Amino acid sequence: MSVRKISIIGSGRLGSFTGYEIVYRELAKEVVLIDIIQNLPQGEAMDLNQMASEKGKSVLVKGSNDYKDISDSDIVVITAGFARKPGMTRLDLLKQNAPIVRDVALQIAKYAPNSIVITVTNPMDVMTYITYKITGFPKERVIGMGGQLDSARYREILANIFNVSRNSVKALVIGEHGENMLPLARFSYVGGIRVSDLLSLEKIKEAEEATRKIAAEVIALKGATVFAPVSCIASLIEAIVKDTKEIIPVSAYLNGEYGLNDLCIGVPAVIGKKGIEKIFELNLNEEEKLRFYKGAEIIKNAINELRQLAII
Ligand code: NAI
Repeated sequence: MSVRKISIIGSGRLGSFTGYEIVYRELAKEVVLIDIIQNLPQGEAMDLNQMASEKGKSVLVKGSNDYKDISDSDIVVITAGFARKPGMTRLDLLKQNAPIVRDVALQIAKYAPNSIVITVTNPMDVMTYITYKITGFPKERVIGMGGQLDSARYREILANIFNVSRNSVKALVIGEHGENMLPLARFSYVGGIRVSDLLSLEKIKEAEEATRKIAAEVIALKGATVFAPVSCIASLIEAIVKDTKEIIPVSAYLNGEYGLNDLCIGVPAVIGKKGIEKIFELNLNEEEKLRFYKGAEIIKNAINELRQLAII
């Protein structure tokens, strides 16, 4: 099962490798890579077409510097912008990436008005909000990728703690895709048993801290995170293309859910062919609420900062 066309804005590490995954999983008939750098998307496209040829995949990849080429895309992925350098937080990228994502969103609204947009650029929750506001798309069609990746990382940490197969671990992280992400031991399971029933409070805190810090560790070691985020982007696309109705934590525009309005933040959502088809509201306890709403406050402050700078 595939859609006709998926476009990726930004042909750097995440963009080009997302192209690879789409070809490999045959999720679209056509993939378009866009970048501001001349020749880069064209070169990536040639390389990917040759890969497709070797694997016998019927997906055509095109590279371009012209947004006209994203016309009538079914799905558009935004990876354009600056990435964290060692020592930086995601929020440090706010002022650099906001104008980029705003411009990209304008182009998407113009050329691919019926698309579902997946925003990846950091700080992702705020960039997802910009995408939602600037495209004017219905909230179902604007999805931020982050909590899915944080959950994969939490799962990895839990599997290591318990020394069990990753397949026996269900892990959930919601909230801000940043310093205040909320790994949920009460909503995560090892062999069907709640993690909060298996670990001491101290161990739970350690696992939470490790989940928050692990991306920065990868960046300190190899300069960027690539394989894990790209795998998440591709699985998200797959859930849309195949209408799987999987529950995936994504950054969604909230309109009263969790008592919040007018921001995007990570929540569990049903993902299908319409995009975000339903948001699940978890019954958070006081401590969990503290972290969740702290993250929401940080996102709101960042949005207000961009308003004051007239970026949105
Ligand atoms: P990269 O630097 O390899 O690629 C970014 C690309 O965007 C570059 O090729 C650049 O030329 C292009 N670009 C910049 N401005 C543009 C514009 N106006 N129009 C089109 N293209 C433009 O960066 P990488 O590693 O691919 O990361 C991309 C973004 O994704 C970063 O903001 C990074 O922080 C974020 N990220 C988000 C994750 C998440 O979980 N949401 C995980 C990992 C990275």
